Amino acid sequence: MNFELASSELVNQRGYIGGEWTNARSGKEMEVRNPATGELLTRVADMSGEDAASAIAAAAHAFSSWKFSLASERAAVLKNWNRLLLENEEVVARLLTLEQGKPLAESRSEVRYAAAFMEWYSEEAKRLNGEILPTYDKTKRLLVLRQPVGVVGTITPWNFPAAMITRKVAPAIAAGCTVVSKPAPQTPLTALALAYLGEKAGLPAGVFNVVPGLDAIAIADAFTNDEHVAKISFTGSTAVGKKLMAACARKIKRISLELGGNAPFIIFDDADLEAAVLGAIQSKFRNTGQTCVCANRFLVDRKVVKAFESRFVEAVSKLSVGNGLVAGIDQGPMISEEAVRKVEEQISDACRKGASVLCGGHRHSLGGSFFQPTVLSDVNPSMRVASEETFGPVAPIQTFESDEQAIEIANDTRAGLAAYFYTQSIERYWRVSERLEYGIVGHNTGLISTEIAPFGGMKESGLGREGSHHGILDYTELKYICSRVS
Ligand code: SIN
Repeated sequence: MNFELASSELVNQRGYIGGEWTNARSGKEMEVRNPATGELLTRVADMSGEDAASAIAAAAHAFSSWKFSLASERAAVLKNWNRLLLENEEVVARLLTLEQGKPLAESRSEVRYAAAFMEWYSEEAKRLNGEILPTYDKTKRLLVLRQPVGVVGTITPWNFPAAMITRKVAPAIAAGCTVVSKPAPQTPLTALALAYLGEKAGLPAGVFNVVPGLDAIAIADAFTNDEHVAKISFTGSTAVGKKLMAACARKIKRISLELGGNAPFIIFDDADLEAAVLGAIQSKFRNTGQTCVCANRFLVDRKVVKAFESRFVEAVSKLSVGNGLVAGIDQGPMISEEAVRKVEEQISDACRKGASVLCGGHRHSLGGSFFQPTVLSDVNPSMRVASEETFGPVAPIQTFESDEQAIEIANDTRAGLAAYFYTQSIERYWRVSERLEYGIVGHNTGLISTEIAPFGGMKESGLGREGSHHGILDYTELKYICSRVS
C-alpha cells in the first residue's frame, strides 16, 4: 500500500465474512487505483462465488438469532455505527475520494448522507408495527406481524461507494435481516471501512458481510441460486437489473432495483433563471455527472433559451476540474477511460446531427479521465445524448414551444427516476408535477436526495423505494395469524 491513509485502521484489504477479515479462497487480489492519478492504491481480496457462498452461510447463521433481537438492540447498534462513521468522516471521505475521484467536499457530504441512513433506520427499527384487524368471526382474532425477510444480498455501484450501501444495509439490519454486500470493484475500500466501523459499533458476526470481487456474475449467481438469500437489492444499470430480475424469478426471490435514469430538467418561461442555473449546475455536475438522478436533458422554453444559455455557460466555464483532494475543485475525473469514450461518442454524434458546443466538448488538458464540463445547444431527440443516459459532465439543451410539448418530451423515455422543473406559477407546479412520469420530482431545486424521502423510479428505472419509512418495508414479510379464541 502506498498512499496517505495506508496506516489507517480503516483501510482493509481483505473481505469481511462472519466477523473475520478473510482472503479470497483462490488467493487472488484485485487492484484499486486512484482515478485522478492512475496510481495503484492497494490490492484487495478478489472474491468469487465460493467466497460469496461462505458469506451467505455466515449471514444465514447470524440471521437465526438476529431476527429475534429486540428492535431497541438493533437501533442501538445502528446509532453507534452512525456515530462512528461521523467521527471518522474525514478519513472515510479521503478514502472515498482516493478510490472514486469525487471532490473532497462531495465525499464529506456523501459520508454524512450515508450516516444519515443509519440514524434514520435506527429510529424506524422501533416503529415496524404490525396490525390487529377487526375480526370477521367472534370466535377468532386476527393479527398481522412484520418479520424480517432473511438474508439480503446487495450489489452496489462505484458512484456512491458509501451511501448506496447504507441506504440498503441500514434498513435491512434495522428490520432484523442479515446482509452480504458486494461493493463495486473500483471502490471496495469504503465498503470495507464501513464493515470495520460496523464491527466496532457492535454488529454481531455475520450480520454484515462484505465480498469484494471482480467477477460480479459469479457473486450475483451465488445470491440468486442460494435458497438462504431471500432478497436482492441492486443499484446499477437497467440492463444488469433486468438480468438479475430474471434470475430472481427462478426461486421467486424478492428484488429491489434502483436503475438508470434519463432525467429531464425543464425550464419554463417564468422560471427564476439565476436559481435554475444554480440547480442545473448542482444536478448536472455533482459527481462529474455520474449519478442516476443527474439532469440528463435540459428542456428550455424557446422564449428564454438564449438568456438561460448565456448564464449557464458562464457558470459552467468557472467550474474547476482536478484531483478531488485539492481544495476548491468542483469536478473530479470520470471513473474510467470507457466512461470518457462514451461521452466523446455522444458529443460527436450530437455535433454530426447539428448540435453546437457552447463550452467544453473535449478531454481536459489534465489528461487521464478528466473531461471538460460541457454544454451543447440545438440538441434534438434524434441525438444519442437526448435519449441515452450520459453519466458524464455534458449538458445538452433542447427547446420546447408549450407546456404540453415539454411534458411529452420529458415523458418520452422508458426511464422514470428523477425529473426537475423550474416555474414560479403554482398552477403549473401542480399540473407539471402530476403529469411527470417519474418517481422523484424536483421543483425549483436540483438537489432532491435525502434519507427522509422515498427514492426510486417508475417504468424501467426500478422497483421499490429506498430511504424513508417505505424503505424498510421491502425488507419485511407480512405474516397473518388467525387465532381461534373460544
Ligand atoms: C444514484 O446515483 O443512484 C444515487 C444518487 C443519490 O442518492 O443522490
